[in-house]
Amino acid sequence: MKVLVTGGAGFIGSHVVDLLIQSGYEPIVVDNLQSGNRKFVPPNVRFFKMDISSPQIEEVFAREKPDVVIHLAAQVDVAYSVKKPVEDANQNILGTIRLLACSQKFNVKKFIFSSSCAVYGEKDDCSIKETFPVQPQSFYGISKHSSELYIQTFHQLFQLPYTILRYANVYGPRQSSIGEGGVISIFFKKVLNGDAPYIFGDGEQTRDFVFVKDVARANVLSIEKGANGIFNIGTNSKTSINQLFQIITSLTNSKLSPIPMPEREGDIRYSRLDNTEAVNLLSWKPDFDLQTGLNETLNYYKRMLKDK
Ligand SMILES: NC(=O)c1ccc[n+]([C@@H]2O[C@H](COP(=O)([O-])OP(=O)(O)OC[C@H]3O[C@@H](n4cnc5c(N)ncnc54)[C@H](O)[C@@H]3O)[C@@H](O)[C@H]2O)c1
Repeated sequence: MKVLVTGGAGFIGSHVVDLLIQSGYEPIVVDNLQSGNRKFVPPNVRFFKMDISSPQIEEVFAREKPDVVIHLAAQVDVAYSVKKPVEDANQNILGTIRLLACSQKFNVKKFIFSSSCAVYGEKDDCSIKETFPVQPQSFYGISKHSSELYIQTFHQLFQLPYTILRYANVYGPRQSSIGEGGVISIFFKKVLNGDAPYIFGDGEQTRDFVFVKDVARANVLSIEKGANGIFNIGTNSKTSINQLFQIITSLTNSKLSPIPMPEREGDIRYSRLDNTEAVNLLSWKPDFDLQTGLNETLNYYKRMLKDK
């Protein structure tokens, strides 16, 4: 089965591609390499260096006739979306619409979309369910929610099957320091270089950190399951930034103290995702606890430093 992976040279997308190969699927990658890395994609995978919002994307669909589209390509920087809302919407909303139109035209059997907990906005310290009202606080969050609405309307109007995955904060090997789960990558890179990382505000803000290989598995499971549903992909547990800093300094035997910085405007206080729907309907659960995932991530950054 052919699976077109947009953003397949990125952090999460490249893990999706690896797992697709392991699971016997044939991945094809479209990526403009804006933040991705060609080296993350195995050399034998067909690769199109292309922007998802370019009209040429239709030629890729015509030539490859994918059975499934896993759409991860996006501008992922929340701060950039606030500074450049037009550019953000061009890539994240118009790019998604173009892929949906091609998927409809070429009879794609499933459209799987990477959405985000950013659609929920600020909530109390609770486990967020998919049914909670959406209230995005950035243009990035709006672009993700708009894409969800387009996907659902393509389904209503043209019966294009879909699964929407709303990720918590994803971390793991190959992550860059930009994007939503970037704090773990930033902390590791700084601490391993002997530099003290910043902590914004009192550090008691909490996040739900989910390991990238678990997120890749949610995507691959969605090929067969979760028809026309929205699923939170998180661990349903919370870790404060102060706790995270302590775990990372202890894993790296570092004596560094963080540099306190003023709270960042627009930063959400609490984020934790209820994953019951994904457990019940995708047969998914997180296999990696934070300690195991962080160990694997640390080994990756150590190897990177050695190869530098
Ligand atoms: N990392 C997280 O914590 C997180 C959380 C929630 C949702 N997401 C979503 O998951 C997806 C993957 O994110 P990631 O963390 O792997 O980021 P990433 O930046 O590593 O991956 C995005 C990939 O898409 C490519 N890309 C960007 N714009 C493109 C365009 N217009 N045309 C073609 N390719 C383009 C980039 O080059 C990159 O390879 C994104 O949709 C992101 O919004 C990520």
